[in-house]
Amino acid sequence: MQYLTAGESHGRCLLAILEGIPSGLKIDESFINSELQRRQKGYGRGGRMEIEADKAEILSGLKNKITIGSPLGFKIENKDFTIDSLKEITVPRPGHSDLAGAIKYNQGIREVSERASARETAIRVTVGAVCKLLLKEFNIEILSWTLSIGKIKIKFSPQLSDLTSSRKILLDSALNCPDTEAEELMLTELDKAIQEGNSLGGIVEIVATNLPIGLGSYVDYRKRLDGRLAQAIMSIPSVKGVGIGLGFKATQCFGSEVQDEIFYNSGEKKFYRQTNNAGGLEGGMTNGEPLVLRFGLKPIPTLRSPLKSVDIISKKEAGATVERADTCIVPAAGVVGEAVVAFELAKAMQEKFGGDSLEEMKRNYENCCKEVKKF
Ligand SMILES: Cc1cc2nc3c(=O)[nH]c(=O)nc-3n(C[C@H](O)[C@H](O)[C@H](O)COP(=O)(O)O)c2cc1C
Repeated sequence: MQYLTAGESHGRCLLAILEGIPSGLKIDESFINSELQRRQKGYGRGGRMEIEADKAEILSGLKNKITIGSPLGFKIENKDFTIDSLKEITVPRPGHSDLAGAIKYNQGIREVSERASARETAIRVTVGAVCKLLLKEFNIEILSWTLSIGKIKIKFSPQLSDLTSSRKILLDSALNCPDTEAEELMLTELDKAIQEGNSLGGIVEIVATNLPIGLGSYVDYRKRLDGRLAQAIMSIPSVKGVGIGLGFKATQCFGSEVQDEIFYNSGEKKFYRQTNNAGGLEGGMTNGEPLVLRFGLKPIPTLRSPLKSVDIISKKEAGATVERADTCIVPAAGVVGEAVVAFELAKAMQEKFGGDSLEEMKRNYENCCKEVKKF
């Protein structure tokens, strides 16, 4: 499975081609659009969100809303299609792609920021939504929530056994945060940042449930699912770190506190763990426990109270360019994170179970489940 995206922030549209989805998958467009809306929500998002109202169009790969095995083409129109008349930018923003990009491509900062903008993540959410639909056929679900904004952390993480009720909280909440007390503090912190023309980062947690054992592999570095997930997450603009399971916390513990002991339930004929410090991955493969990963985002670079920079034409000191911008994109990044994880998991499912049609893929999956039970 593979996908490619195209499009600029204020260009005509965003595009993606997704290849490798089996035939026979029903595509629910309203689900795709609800995912796009989730990306647009969250307290601290800027004026762009009111303009965007993203809606994906599926241009190819379907007959009567069902996949036929050929590549899927997607388009999201930009309501703000103004690229040709946008004024030049000459002062690069510290922390953005502006300066290195302008030097590298021998272009103006505007040309660089049009593609470097995280607007591109909208079309990745479309691709991810289709992958989620494929994963749903195997009862695999992916959820995300905000663990912290700036220095404010939630006091508890939803219990893995309580995912369904956490999800309700997620969808109802302004920040996708399951701790209402912490959420209040986060909102206050965000109001402060908005007033000061500043920005805030934070940490997101993603969980995927019902993954079969053995997605990914240890036999080759490119097949390790932990590596592939980390790359996918790190490719989200402003992500600065990824942890799987305990992540960096594992470095402060003894081995006996970190490794998840193995048990066997003879009734269900199933191996199981009482802890999930590994976050569902051992040796680059899923081990049957929920996948748990966290990622950290820096505060976004565009600030209404600009930092010092230098005009690339005059070479004189100047305040960095102020564009219409978000203050905090952590909850939105959670939705993007779910999308890129969905793609990596769908790809790993396709690699393990193959199948040109969904029917064939399911047959292979069920045979494999039977074999696992015999072990
Ligand atoms: C969903 C989302 C929305 C973003 N919105 C903005 C924004 O409005 N302004 C901004 O300066 N950066 C925004 N960013 C972050 C920048 O795109 C990012 O910091 C920049 O491309 C430089 O990449 P780097 O931070 O990974 O080095 C956003 C990121 C995401 C994931």
